[in-house]
Amino acid sequence: MNIVYLNGEYLPADKAKISVFDRGFLFGDSVYEVIPFYQGVGFRLTEHLARLEYSLRALQIQTCQDWEAILNLLVSQNGGGNLSVYLQITRGAGDSRSHRYGDDLSPTVFACCTPIKDIYTAGPDDIVPMKVIVTADLRWHRCDVKSTCLLPNIMVVHQAQAQDADEALMMRDGKLTEGSSCNVFIVLQGVIYTPKRGSEILGGTTRELIMQLADEHAIPSQEVDIDYEMLKTADEVWISSSTRGVVPVIEIDGDQVGDGEKGPLWSTMFELFIRYQQKLMTGE
Ligand code: PDD
Repeated sequence: MNIVYLNGEYLPADKAKISVFDRGFLFGDSVYEVIPFYQGVGFRLTEHLARLEYSLRALQIQTCQDWEAILNLLVSQNGGGNLSVYLQITRGAGDSRSHRYGDDLSPTVFACCTPIKDIYTAGPDDIVPMKVIVTADLRWHRCDVKSTCLLPNIMVVHQAQAQDADEALMMRDGKLTEGSSCNVFIVLQGVIYTPKRGSEILGGTTRELIMQLADEHAIPSQEVDIDYEMLKTADEVWISSSTRGVVPVIEIDGDQVGDGEKGPLWSTMFELFIRYQQKLMTGE
């Protein structure tokens, strides 16, 4: 059964109701996280919850909850296993539609689960490489906040879909930012490059892990501005996100990346990911 969490209650999805005046619904006045659970255990839960607190603080949405307990119970109510947990907190509902809000609102907390594959028990051959397009980044200038205002992201991924591609990478002022729901990396002559962290991109938890693993294994990596030319001449291109892990890109705007195969440095990084996950799961 699909059990969701809404404001303190665990209930079947079709019984969960929110107000038509909820500001998340009316204005996208809300933040969210997507957190994978493998075999019932949250993957980098601490990092996700830290980013959630950052987003809440940025929008001054005040709520203090035991997120870990809420999510762990939701996962077990849905049978544990491999699930992606979506957690959304809106500023709450007033009694009419108004841009202005008072400090008497009670935030709406909603969470639900979707079954996912455990990418970490898959082998590298199970990872399907991606085709992407590159398009303009139409978003606001606080992309470091994980807000639910995702219309530009939806528009670019739809554009990708219409061109038979899997993802859209975005560029702002001639610089690569990120994908519609992922960060991006390129490899040039054995060095991993990724756009600088700042308000133009989300500080991805998977991005952070890739940089950490690169550091620990003496693989050179650098945060830099990446232009279209650099992207198109890269030996390898990867995207990263919590639910997808690290995935190779083999086509950009219809042109092959490198030799059109999953790259050797991607294979190394994927291997490091699997080892990291195994360590977490076995507690070794
Ligand atoms: N997306 N950039 C954007 C714009 C994202 O939406 C995401 C995550 C990421 C990667 O962050 P992380 O590695 O912490 O998942 C980068 C989630 C998965 C989503 O919207 O479904």
